[in-house]
Amino acid sequence: MSTRHGIDWNKAQALFETERETFAAQRPRSRELSRQAAEHLAFGVPLHWMNDWSTPFSLYVDRAKGARFRDVDGFDYADFCLGDTGAMFGHAPAPVARALTEQGTKGLTAMLPSEDAVWVSRELARRFGLPFWQFAMTATDANRFVLRWARAATGRSKVLVFNGCYHGTVDDVFVDLVDGGPMQRDSLLGQVYDLTQHTRVVEFNDLEALEAALADGEVACVLAEPAMTNIGMVLPERGYWEAAQAIIRRHGTLLVIDETHTISTGPGGFTRAHGLAPDAFVLGKPIGGGYGFSAELAERVQAAKRNAPPGHSGVGTTLTANLLAMAAMRATLAEVMTEDAYAHMFALAERLAEGLRSVIERRGVPWCVTQVGARTEFQFSPAPPRNGSEAECILDSELEHVIHLYLLNRGLLITPFHNMILVCPDTTATDVDRLIAAFDEVLAAIV
Ligand SMILES: Cc1ncc(COP(=O)(O)O)c(C=O)c1O
Repeated sequence: MSTRHGIDWNKAQALFETERETFAAQRPRSRELSRQAAEHLAFGVPLHWMNDWSTPFSLYVDRAKGARFRDVDGFDYADFCLGDTGAMFGHAPAPVARALTEQGTKGLTAMLPSEDAVWVSRELARRFGLPFWQFAMTATDANRFVLRWARAATGRSKVLVFNGCYHGTVDDVFVDLVDGGPMQRDSLLGQVYDLTQHTRVVEFNDLEALEAALADGEVACVLAEPAMTNIGMVLPERGYWEAAQAIIRRHGTLLVIDETHTISTGPGGFTRAHGLAPDAFVLGKPIGGGYGFSAELAERVQAAKRNAPPGHSGVGTTLTANLLAMAAMRATLAEVMTEDAYAHMFALAERLAEGLRSVIERRGVPWCVTQVGARTEFQFSPAPPRNGSEAECILDSELEHVIHLYLLNRGLLITPFHNMILVCPDTTATDVDRLIAAFDEVLAAIV
Protein backbone atom coordinates (compact mmCIF):
# COMPACT_ATOMS: atom_id res chain seq x y z
CA MET A 1 0.00 0.00 0.00
CA SER A 2 1.38 3.43 -0.84
CA THR A 3 0.62 6.02 1.83
CA ARG A 4 0.84 9.78 1.68
CA HIS A 5 0.08 12.09 4.61
CA GLY A 6 -1.61 9.16 6.33
CA ILE A 7 -3.78 8.41 3.28
CA ASP A 8 -3.97 5.21 1.25
CA TRP A 9 -2.92 6.72 -2.06
CA ASN A 10 -4.36 3.90 -4.21
CA LYS A 11 -7.75 4.41 -2.63
CA ALA A 12 -7.45 8.17 -3.08
CA GLN A 13 -6.66 7.85 -6.79
CA ALA A 14 -9.53 5.44 -7.37
CA LEU A 15 -11.89 7.78 -5.54
CA PHE A 16 -10.71 10.72 -7.62
CA GLU A 17 -11.50 8.89 -10.85
CA THR A 18 -15.01 8.01 -9.66
CA GLU A 19 -15.62 11.60 -8.54
CA ARG A 20 -14.46 12.98 -11.89
CA GLU A 21 -16.86 10.67 -13.70
CA THR A 22 -19.72 11.69 -11.39
CA PHE A 23 -18.99 15.37 -11.90
CA ALA A 24 -18.86 15.00 -15.69
CA ALA A 25 -21.99 12.86 -15.93
CA GLN A 26 -24.08 15.24 -13.84
CA ARG A 27 -23.14 18.52 -15.50
CA PRO A 28 -23.96 18.55 -19.23
CA ARG A 29 -24.50 22.32 -19.34
CA SER A 30 -21.13 23.17 -17.76
CA ARG A 31 -19.52 20.68 -20.14
CA GLU A 32 -21.19 22.31 -23.17
CA LEU A 33 -20.21 25.84 -22.05
CA SER A 34 -16.63 24.64 -21.54
CA ARG A 35 -16.65 23.27 -25.07
CA GLN A 36 -17.90 26.58 -26.46
CA ALA A 37 -15.45 28.56 -24.31
CA ALA A 38 -12.55 26.67 -25.87
CA GLU A 39 -13.45 28.23 -29.23
CA HIS A 40 -12.49 31.78 -28.26
CA LEU A 41 -11.01 31.84 -24.79
CA ALA A 42 -7.31 31.10 -24.60
CA PHE A 43 -6.85 28.19 -22.17
CA GLY A 44 -10.64 27.65 -22.51
CA VAL A 45 -11.31 29.96 -19.54
CA PRO A 46 -11.37 33.74 -18.94
CA LEU A 47 -8.27 33.50 -16.74
CA HIS A 48 -5.89 30.57 -17.05
CA TRP A 49 -5.96 29.92 -13.24
CA MET A 50 -9.58 28.87 -13.62
CA ASN A 51 -8.20 25.56 -14.87
CA ASP A 52 -6.60 24.93 -11.48
CA TRP A 53 -9.76 23.54 -9.88
CA SER A 54 -10.13 19.82 -9.24
CA THR A 55 -12.94 19.47 -11.81
CA PRO A 56 -12.42 17.89 -15.26
CA PHE A 57 -13.94 21.01 -16.87
CA SER A 58 -15.10 24.37 -15.50
CA LEU A 59 -18.06 24.56 -13.19
CA TYR A 60 -20.22 27.41 -14.55
CA VAL A 61 -22.08 29.62 -12.09
CA ASP A 62 -25.67 30.61 -12.70
CA ARG A 63 -26.20 32.84 -9.67
CA ALA A 64 -24.69 33.46 -6.24
CA LYS A 65 -26.33 34.95 -3.16
CA GLY A 66 -25.20 34.99 0.45
CA ALA A 67 -23.31 31.81 1.34
CA ARG A 68 -24.45 29.81 -1.66
CA PHE A 69 -24.49 29.62 -5.41
CA ARG A 70 -26.24 27.58 -8.10
CA ASP A 71 -24.45 26.13 -11.09
CA VAL A 72 -25.86 26.13 -14.61
CA ASP A 73 -26.98 22.51 -14.22
CA GLY A 74 -29.15 23.44 -11.24
CA PHE A 75 -26.96 22.12 -8.39
CA ASP A 76 -26.77 24.25 -5.23
CA TYR A 77 -23.57 24.69 -3.23
CA ALA A 78 -22.64 26.03 0.18
CA ASP A 79 -19.70 28.21 -0.78
CA PHE A 80 -16.71 28.17 1.57
CA CYS A 81 -14.35 29.48 -1.13
CA LEU A 82 -16.21 32.76 -1.45
CA GLY A 83 -14.22 33.89 -4.44
CA ASP A 84 -10.98 33.24 -2.51
CA THR A 85 -11.94 36.12 -0.17
CA GLY A 86 -13.42 38.45 -2.81
CA ALA A 87 -16.88 37.50 -1.50
CA MET A 88 -15.86 37.07 2.14
CA PHE A 89 -18.96 38.95 3.27
CA GLY A 90 -21.27 36.82 1.16
CA HIS A 91 -22.32 36.97 -2.46
CA ALA A 92 -24.24 40.03 -3.64
CA PRO A 93 -24.82 41.60 -0.20
CA ALA A 94 -28.07 43.58 -0.39
CA PRO A 95 -26.58 46.98 0.65
CA VAL A 96 -23.86 46.70 -2.00
CA ALA A 97 -26.29 45.54 -4.68
CA ARG A 98 -28.52 48.52 -3.82
CA ALA A 99 -25.61 50.98 -3.91
CA LEU A 100 -24.43 49.64 -7.25
CA THR A 101 -27.90 49.81 -8.76
CA GLU A 102 -28.33 53.38 -7.59
CA GLN A 103 -24.86 54.54 -8.61
CA GLY A 104 -25.28 52.67 -11.90
CA THR A 105 -27.88 55.21 -12.91
CA LYS A 106 -25.82 58.16 -11.64
CA GLY A 107 -22.54 57.56 -13.42
CA LEU A 108 -19.87 54.88 -13.44
CA THR A 109 -16.62 56.73 -13.78
CA ALA A 110 -15.61 60.35 -14.32
CA MET A 111 -11.99 60.64 -13.16
CA LEU A 112 -13.40 63.00 -10.55
CA PRO A 113 -14.27 62.15 -6.94
CA SER A 114 -17.75 61.77 -5.52
CA GLU A 115 -18.76 62.43 -1.91
CA ASP A 116 -18.32 58.72 -1.25
CA ALA A 117 -14.52 59.09 -1.45
CA VAL A 118 -14.54 61.50 1.49
CA TRP A 119 -16.81 59.26 3.58
CA VAL A 120 -14.79 56.14 2.75
CA SER A 121 -11.40 57.67 3.59
CA ARG A 122 -12.74 58.92 6.93
CA GLU A 123 -14.11 55.47 7.74
CA LEU A 124 -10.90 53.72 6.69
CA ALA A 125 -8.89 56.05 8.93
CA ARG A 126 -11.24 55.39 11.86
CA ARG A 127 -11.29 51.65 11.36
CA PHE A 128 -7.66 50.92 10.61
CA GLY A 129 -5.90 53.77 12.41
CA LEU A 130 -3.92 55.09 9.41
CA PRO A 131 -4.91 58.69 8.67
CA PHE A 132 -4.32 59.02 4.89
CA TRP A 133 -5.59 56.84 2.05
CA GLN A 134 -5.36 56.21 -1.68
CA PHE A 135 -7.26 53.69 -3.80
CA ALA A 136 -6.51 50.92 -6.29
CA MET A 137 -8.71 48.55 -8.27
CA THR A 138 -7.01 45.42 -6.91
CA ALA A 139 -4.76 44.39 -4.05
CA THR A 140 -2.07 43.67 -6.62
CA ASP A 141 -2.17 47.27 -7.75
CA ALA A 142 -2.29 48.53 -4.18
CA ASN A 143 0.88 46.58 -3.36
CA ARG A 144 2.60 47.66 -6.54
CA PHE A 145 1.83 51.31 -5.82
CA VAL A 146 2.88 51.09 -2.18
CA LEU A 147 6.26 49.62 -3.16
CA ARG A 148 6.77 52.54 -5.49
CA TRP A 149 5.82 55.08 -2.82
CA ALA A 150 8.06 53.36 -0.27
CA ARG A 151 11.04 53.50 -2.59
CA ALA A 152 10.31 57.10 -3.55
CA ALA A 153 9.88 58.18 0.07
CA THR A 154 13.01 56.47 1.40
CA GLY A 155 15.31 56.80 -1.61
CA ARG A 156 16.16 53.10 -1.08
CA SER A 157 15.78 50.54 -3.84
CA LYS A 158 15.40 47.20 -2.04
CA VAL A 159 12.34 45.48 -0.63
CA LEU A 160 12.15 42.52 1.71
CA VAL A 161 9.52 39.79 1.62
CA PHE A 162 8.98 36.48 3.39
CA ASN A 163 9.72 33.18 1.71
CA GLY A 164 6.57 31.68 0.19
CA CYS A 165 4.68 34.96 0.12
CA TYR A 166 2.09 36.03 -2.40
CA HIS A 167 1.02 39.65 -2.76
CA GLY A 168 -0.71 39.42 -6.12
CA THR A 169 1.05 39.57 -9.47
CA VAL A 170 3.62 42.10 -8.26
CA ASP A 171 6.81 41.06 -9.99
CA ASP A 172 9.14 42.21 -7.21
CA VAL A 173 7.90 39.59 -4.77
CA PHE A 174 8.35 36.44 -6.88
CA VAL A 175 11.63 35.64 -5.24
CA ASP A 176 12.09 32.49 -3.15
CA LEU A 177 14.69 31.44 -0.64
CA VAL A 178 16.60 28.53 -2.15
CA ASP A 179 19.60 27.08 -0.30
CA GLY A 180 19.77 30.21 1.80
CA GLY A 181 19.82 32.61 -1.15
CA PRO A 182 17.24 34.51 -3.23
CA MET A 183 16.07 32.90 -6.45
CA GLN A 184 13.58 34.21 -8.98
CA ARG A 185 10.48 32.00 -9.15
CA ASP A 186 10.95 30.02 -12.34
CA SER A 187 7.23 29.76 -13.10
CA LEU A 188 7.16 33.49 -13.80
CA LEU A 189 6.40 34.19 -17.45
CA GLY A 190 8.07 36.82 -19.58
CA GLN A 191 10.07 38.37 -16.77
CA VAL A 192 13.35 39.63 -18.16
CA TYR A 193 14.74 41.60 -15.20
CA ASP A 194 16.82 40.10 -12.43
CA LEU A 195 14.41 40.46 -9.53
CA THR A 196 16.97 39.27 -7.00
CA GLN A 197 18.86 42.55 -7.43
CA HIS A 198 16.27 44.53 -5.54
CA THR A 199 14.37 41.93 -3.53
CA ARG A 200 15.57 40.24 -0.38
CA VAL A 201 13.82 37.24 1.09
CA VAL A 202 13.96 35.66 4.55
CA GLU A 203 11.89 33.09 6.41
CA PHE A 204 8.88 34.24 8.42
CA ASN A 205 9.36 33.92 12.20
CA ASP A 206 13.15 34.26 11.86
CA LEU A 207 14.19 37.46 13.65
CA GLU A 208 17.92 36.92 13.18
CA ALA A 209 17.56 36.64 9.41
CA LEU A 210 15.39 39.75 9.35
CA GLU A 211 17.97 41.70 11.35
CA ALA A 212 20.79 40.58 9.04
CA ALA A 213 18.85 41.39 5.87
CA LEU A 214 18.06 44.93 7.00
CA ALA A 215 21.41 45.75 8.60
CA ASP A 216 22.96 47.65 5.68
CA GLY A 217 20.11 50.18 5.61
CA GLU A 218 19.31 49.63 1.92
CA VAL A 219 15.83 48.17 2.33
CA ALA A 220 12.97 50.59 1.68
CA CYS A 221 10.24 48.40 3.09
CA VAL A 222 9.22 45.02 4.39
CA LEU A 223 6.06 43.89 2.60
CA ALA A 224 4.29 41.24 4.66
CA GLU A 225 1.05 39.54 5.45
CA PRO A 226 0.79 39.61 9.25
CA ALA A 227 0.03 35.88 9.09
CA MET A 228 1.01 34.14 5.88
CA THR A 229 -2.00 32.74 4.03
CA ASN A 230 -0.86 31.88 0.55
CA ILE A 231 1.40 28.88 1.05
CA GLY A 232 -1.04 27.41 3.48
CA MET A 233 -1.32 29.40 6.68
CA VAL A 234 1.73 30.25 8.76
CA LEU A 235 1.00 32.11 11.98
CA PRO A 236 3.43 34.50 13.67
CA GLU A 237 4.96 33.10 16.82
CA ARG A 238 4.18 34.81 20.11
CA GLY A 239 6.07 38.12 20.30
CA TYR A 240 7.27 37.86 16.70
CA TRP A 241 5.70 41.03 15.36
CA GLU A 242 6.64 43.09 18.40
CA ALA A 243 10.29 42.19 17.94
CA ALA A 244 10.16 42.33 14.13
CA GLN A 245 8.64 45.82 14.18
CA ALA A 246 11.41 47.03 16.50
CA ILE A 247 14.06 45.67 14.13
CA ILE A 248 12.38 47.15 11.06
CA ARG A 249 12.10 50.57 12.69
CA ARG A 250 15.67 50.52 13.97
CA HIS A 251 16.94 50.18 10.41
CA GLY A 252 14.79 53.02 9.05
CA THR A 253 12.80 50.54 6.96
CA LEU A 254 9.06 50.93 6.41
CA LEU A 255 6.59 48.22 7.31
CA VAL A 256 3.84 47.55 4.77
CA ILE A 257 1.16 45.19 6.04
CA ASP A 258 -0.93 43.49 3.38
CA GLU A 259 -4.30 42.62 4.92
CA THR A 260 -5.98 41.39 1.74
CA HIS A 261 -6.64 37.98 3.33
CA THR A 262 -6.06 38.58 7.04
CA ILE A 263 -8.94 41.04 7.11
CA SER A 264 -10.66 37.80 8.17
CA THR A 265 -9.21 38.53 11.65
CA GLY A 266 -11.69 41.26 12.50
CA PRO A 267 -13.22 44.59 11.47
CA GLY A 268 -9.85 46.35 11.86
CA GLY A 269 -7.82 43.47 10.43
CA PHE A 270 -4.98 41.62 12.12
CA THR A 271 -3.28 44.98 12.61
CA ARG A 272 -5.94 46.33 14.96
CA ALA A 273 -6.57 42.99 16.66
CA HIS A 274 -2.88 42.55 17.51
CA GLY A 275 -1.77 46.16 17.96
CA LEU A 276 0.58 46.37 14.97
CA ALA A 277 1.71 49.82 13.84
CA PRO A 278 2.55 49.63 10.12
CA ASP A 279 3.64 52.60 8.02
CA ALA A 280 1.38 51.46 5.19
CA PHE A 281 -1.59 49.13 5.09
CA VAL A 282 -3.04 47.34 2.07
CA LEU A 283 -6.66 46.31 1.54
CA GLY A 284 -8.07 44.33 -1.34
CA LYS A 285 -10.52 41.71 -2.42
CA PRO A 286 -13.72 42.00 -0.31
CA ILE A 287 -13.67 45.79 -0.26
CA GLY A 288 -11.97 46.56 -3.55
CA GLY A 289 -8.52 48.03 -3.16
CA GLY A 290 -6.74 50.75 -1.30
CA TYR A 291 -3.83 51.58 0.92
CA GLY A 292 -3.33 53.72 3.98
CA PHE A 293 -0.31 55.73 5.13
CA SER A 294 0.78 56.78 8.59
CA ALA A 295 0.89 60.57 9.01
CA GLU A 296 4.66 60.54 8.72
CA LEU A 297 4.76 58.42 5.59
CA ALA A 298 1.97 60.48 4.03
CA GLU A 299 4.19 63.57 4.48
CA ARG A 300 7.10 61.81 2.86
CA VAL A 301 5.21 60.47 -0.15
CA GLN A 302 3.56 63.82 -0.76
CA ALA A 303 6.96 65.50 -0.61
CA ALA A 304 8.36 62.91 -3.04
CA LYS A 305 5.59 63.69 -5.53
CA ARG A 306 5.96 67.47 -5.03
CA ASN A 307 9.67 67.29 -5.64
CA ALA A 308 9.48 65.01 -8.68
CA PRO A 309 9.50 66.42 -12.20
CA PRO A 310 6.04 66.66 -13.81
CA GLY A 311 4.87 63.60 -15.75
CA HIS A 312 3.91 60.00 -15.12
CA SER A 313 4.39 58.85 -11.54
CA GLY A 314 3.89 55.14 -12.23
CA VAL A 315 1.05 55.09 -9.68
CA GLY A 316 -2.62 54.78 -10.61
CA THR A 317 -4.98 53.51 -13.30
CA THR A 318 -7.87 55.27 -15.07
CA LEU A 319 -10.61 53.37 -13.27
CA THR A 320 -9.03 53.73 -9.82
CA ALA A 321 -11.50 55.22 -7.31
CA ASN A 322 -14.25 55.33 -9.93
CA LEU A 323 -17.73 56.36 -8.82
CA LEU A 324 -19.13 52.84 -8.88
CA ALA A 325 -16.27 51.33 -6.89
CA MET A 326 -16.48 54.04 -4.24
CA ALA A 327 -20.22 53.52 -3.83
CA ALA A 328 -19.66 49.77 -3.35
CA MET A 329 -16.86 50.39 -0.87
CA ARG A 330 -18.99 52.77 1.16
CA ALA A 331 -21.89 50.30 1.34
CA THR A 332 -19.53 47.47 2.30
CA LEU A 333 -17.87 49.45 5.08
CA ALA A 334 -21.09 50.98 6.39
CA GLU A 335 -23.44 48.01 6.31
CA VAL A 336 -21.66 44.74 5.55
CA MET A 337 -18.31 44.55 7.38
CA THR A 338 -19.95 45.04 10.75
CA GLU A 339 -19.00 43.81 14.23
CA ASP A 340 -22.10 41.60 14.18
CA ALA A 341 -21.08 40.04 10.87
CA TYR A 342 -17.67 39.19 12.27
CA ALA A 343 -19.12 37.79 15.50
CA HIS A 344 -21.28 35.39 13.45
CA MET A 345 -18.32 34.38 11.29
CA PHE A 346 -16.04 33.75 14.28
CA ALA A 347 -18.55 31.50 16.02
CA LEU A 348 -18.99 29.38 12.90
CA ALA A 349 -15.29 29.26 12.09
CA GLU A 350 -14.69 28.02 15.63
CA ARG A 351 -17.36 25.35 15.19
CA LEU A 352 -15.77 24.34 11.91
CA ALA A 353 -12.23 24.17 13.30
CA GLU A 354 -13.34 22.06 16.26
CA GLY A 355 -15.31 19.75 13.98
CA LEU A 356 -12.38 19.28 11.60
CA ARG A 357 -10.01 18.64 14.51
CA SER A 358 -12.23 15.94 15.95
CA VAL A 359 -12.54 14.23 12.54
CA ILE A 360 -8.75 14.34 12.12
CA GLU A 361 -8.30 12.81 15.53
CA ARG A 362 -10.95 10.15 15.00
CA ARG A 363 -9.56 9.15 11.60
CA GLY A 364 -6.00 9.18 12.92
CA VAL A 365 -4.37 11.27 10.17
CA PRO A 366 -1.30 13.39 11.03
CA TRP A 367 -2.95 16.69 10.12
CA CYS A 368 -3.72 19.92 11.93
CA VAL A 369 -6.11 22.87 11.67
CA THR A 370 -4.98 26.50 11.57
CA GLN A 371 -7.17 29.55 11.92
CA VAL A 372 -7.10 33.30 11.37
CA GLY A 373 -10.53 34.58 12.41
CA ALA A 374 -13.06 33.56 9.78
CA ARG A 375 -10.39 31.70 7.78
CA THR A 376 -9.75 28.06 8.63
CA GLU A 377 -7.44 25.55 7.01
CA PHE A 378 -6.58 21.90 7.46
CA GLN A 379 -2.94 21.19 6.78
CA PHE A 380 -1.15 17.92 6.05
CA SER A 381 1.22 17.98 9.02
CA PRO A 382 0.78 17.15 12.72
CA ALA A 383 1.82 20.67 13.78
CA PRO A 384 1.32 23.97 11.94
CA PRO A 385 4.27 25.06 9.76
CA ARG A 386 6.54 27.78 11.16
CA ASN A 387 7.69 29.30 7.89
CA GLY A 388 7.28 29.20 4.11
CA SER A 389 9.71 26.32 3.58
CA GLU A 390 7.93 24.09 6.08
CA ALA A 391 4.57 25.09 4.63
CA GLU A 392 5.68 24.30 1.10
CA CYS A 393 6.90 20.84 2.11
CA ILE A 394 3.43 19.79 3.24
CA LEU A 395 1.48 21.05 0.22
CA ASP A 396 0.04 18.23 -1.86
CA SER A 397 -2.16 19.52 -4.65
CA GLU A 398 -3.11 16.02 -5.85
CA LEU A 399 -4.44 15.03 -2.45
CA GLU A 400 -6.14 18.42 -2.14
CA HIS A 401 -7.93 17.78 -5.43
CA VAL A 402 -9.27 14.42 -4.26
CA ILE A 403 -10.78 16.02 -1.16
CA HIS A 404 -11.99 19.17 -2.91
CA LEU A 405 -13.76 17.28 -5.69
CA TYR A 406 -15.41 14.87 -3.25
CA LEU A 407 -16.77 17.87 -1.34
CA LEU A 408 -17.78 19.71 -4.50
CA ASN A 409 -19.81 16.73 -5.74
CA ARG A 410 -21.70 16.96 -2.45
CA GLY A 411 -22.51 20.64 -2.82
CA LEU A 412 -19.61 22.03 -0.76
CA LEU A 413 -17.02 24.31 -2.32
CA ILE A 414 -13.68 25.14 -0.73
CA THR A 415 -10.78 27.15 -2.17
CA PRO A 416 -8.91 25.33 -4.96
CA PHE A 417 -5.49 26.35 -3.62
CA HIS A 418 -4.42 24.45 -0.47
CA ASN A 419 -7.29 23.79 1.93
CA MET A 420 -8.61 27.18 2.91
CA ILE A 421 -12.18 27.45 4.11
CA LEU A 422 -13.99 30.75 4.69
CA VAL A 423 -17.28 31.39 6.39
CA CYS A 424 -19.37 34.49 5.66
CA PRO A 425 -22.17 36.30 7.50
CA ASP A 426 -24.75 34.13 5.68
CA THR A 427 -23.11 30.78 6.39
CA THR A 428 -25.24 28.65 8.71
CA ALA A 429 -24.37 26.09 11.36
CA THR A 430 -26.06 23.49 9.15
CA ASP A 431 -23.67 24.35 6.27
CA VAL A 432 -20.73 23.94 8.62
CA ASP A 433 -22.00 20.64 9.98
CA ARG A 434 -22.54 19.32 6.46
CA LEU A 435 -18.97 20.21 5.60
CA ILE A 436 -17.61 18.47 8.69
CA ALA A 437 -19.69 15.37 7.94
CA ALA A 438 -18.50 15.23 4.31
CA PHE A 439 -14.89 15.73 5.43
CA ASP A 440 -15.35 12.76 7.74
CA GLU A 441 -16.80 10.67 4.90
CA VAL A 442 -13.98 11.42 2.50
CA LEU A 443 -11.39 10.57 5.13
CA ALA A 444 -13.22 7.34 5.91
CA ALA A 445 -12.98 6.49 2.20
CA ILE A 446 -9.24 7.10 1.80
CA VAL A 447 -7.52 6.50 5.13
C1 LIG B 1 -2.08 38.71 0.55
C2 LIG B 1 -2.51 39.03 -0.85
N1 LIG B 1 -2.21 40.22 -1.37
C3 LIG B 1 -2.59 40.56 -2.59
C4 LIG B 1 -3.30 39.69 -3.38
C5 LIG B 1 -3.71 40.08 -4.76
O1 LIG B 1 -5.07 40.26 -4.85
P1 LIG B 1 -5.71 40.53 -6.28
O2 LIG B 1 -5.53 39.26 -7.05
O3 LIG B 1 -7.14 40.80 -6.00
O4 LIG B 1 -5.00 41.67 -6.89
C6 LIG B 1 -3.61 38.43 -2.89
C7 LIG B 1 -4.36 37.45 -3.71
O5 LIG B 1 -4.56 36.31 -3.37
C8 LIG B 1 -3.22 38.09 -1.58
O6 LIG B 1 -3.50 36.90 -1.05
